[in-house]
Amino acid sequence: MKIFKSKHKLQKEILNIKNISFVPTMGGLHKGHISLIKKSKNFNGKTLVSIFVNPKQFNKKQDFLKYPRNLTKDLILLKRLKVDYIYLPSLKDIFSFKVKNKIYLDKFSKKLCGKSRKGHFKGVLNIVNRFLDLIKPKHIILGVKDFQQSYLITKHILKRNINTKVINCKTVREKNGVACSTRNKNLSKNQFRIASKTIRYLKNNKRSIRKKLSNFNSANIKRNLKNFGVTKIDYIKLFNSKTLTRPRSNRENFKIFIAFYLNKTRLIDNI
Ligand code: PAF
Repeated sequence: MKIFKSKHKLQKEILNIKNISFVPTMGGLHKGHISLIKKSKNFNGKTLVSIFVNPKQFNKKQDFLKYPRNLTKDLILLKRLKVDYIYLPSLKDIFSFKVKNKIYLDKFSKKLCGKSRKGHFKGVLNIVNRFLDLIKPKHIILGVKDFQQSYLITKHILKRNINTKVINCKTVREKNGVACSTRNKNLSKNQFRIASKTIRYLKNNKRSIRKKLSNFNSANIKRNLKNFGVTKIDYIKLFNSKTLTRPRSNRENFKIFIAFYLNKTRLIDNI
């Protein structure tokens, strides 16, 4: 496993490697990341993992400061997984060069998390665009827990004709149903229990919405989630996961998208 802190050294190393699968992360690695890395290793090329907590995608300074970090533990895990390359840029290293492609921000960026986290997706695309420019990976491996992020990165790649294929991996969950997330590390035991109740409740709800679309009553759901102990619900919405429009019939393939707070910790999921 080779670790790079400088883009020039990294680029020199990977210059002639055509089959790189890239897993971008902000560290605080968990089972979800492990599944992305395993997927990447199936491609039989080289796997490159980046760890960088990108300040530009946080709309609140406190959230950036409180984002869980544990580089030592992450590196031990990555070594065990036999990852080929790790890129650990500094802010200067990653933001101090001119990128070829302009960011393309699809209009879906204005919905869901885009409404409540101003500038978030622009920050995500800024950094991902830079990584793609430097690494030129054959694949970029993303998790669909961050469905909107993955969709917007895909749109950017297509619009800018970037020669990288997006590989989407399904959400990995803890035994209690909560999606694996670095932010879970900030939850107390009780908050983790409330998160589990929330997800289980939504799964049951999905079953009843599948029977009849009008069974979806967001006000009712919000009230019940608050009773479980959820602090705040940013949004709870149904979308057809292909067309990204509101489903008109229960035969459509829809998902429930949610962002909610447990005290100051914001979690997202799609079910
Ligand atoms: O999903 C994440 O961890 C981040 O948004 C990403 C893709 C690494 C960009 O900073």
